[in-house]
Amino acid sequence: MDAREMKVKAAEAALAYVEDGMRLGIGTGSTAEEFVRLLAEKVHGGLRVEGVPTSERTARLCVELGIPLKSLDELPELDLTIDGADEVDAGLTLIKGGGGALLREKIVAAASSRMIVIADESKLVATLGAFPLPIEINPFGQAATRIAIEKAAARLGLGGELKLRKSGADVFMTDGGHHIFDASFGRIPDAEALSGELNSIPGVVEHGLFIHMASLAIIAGPAGAQTLK
Ligand code: 5RP
Repeated sequence: MDAREMKVKAAEAALAYVEDGMRLGIGTGSTAEEFVRLLAEKVHGGLRVEGVPTSERTARLCVELGIPLKSLDELPELDLTIDGADEVDAGLTLIKGGGGALLREKIVAAASSRMIVIADESKLVATLGAFPLPIEINPFGQAATRIAIEKAAARLGLGGELKLRKSGADVFMTDGGHHIFDASFGRIPDAEALSGELNSIPGVVEHGLFIHMASLAIIAGPAGAQTLK
């Protein structure tokens, strides 16, 4: 079974949690897109849902496939969000933002009664941090924000490089008009402490640590999908 097939397996399993009439947060990334494709088939079969996309990219795919969409302002309270992740640990703390949508993903997940993560087994880790942590920053004063992040990380004994994300030759721009530092801190033993430090820096718009947000993770491997609660 290749990685795509595992993503499809996880997405299929997540579909079982979608009920008629639900207001759904719809994630971003290749795994979330497998979910969108399966959801579209159900919608064409008569399932009624309203989706709030977590990125312009996801919105475009939903429109193309005929999934009814609303903005989060029109539907500020959601029943369920289904989204991928870059890393998941056994306590369901996540690193997200590899696709650059972490801010909207976090806002949408926070507005949802429930968040389910779907991933292939390569995303399941004992300790977060092998995947560089995406940190969304305001473009204003980014040199000062960089220094503040490095100092905050050092207070927690974390080193590592902050790379400004690029898209080709250009600086990557999020849907919200911000930039992203990908922070190679290495192992993150205390995600809550790091989250607190990053949240206290004014130039940091949001970071990719999702703590106490997911209530279930569906992790697919060659032997099938397992759920973590
Ligand atoms: C986007 C995300 C994605 O959920 C994450 O990057 C996983 O993507 P993929 O399913 O393509 O591996 O957080 O901002």
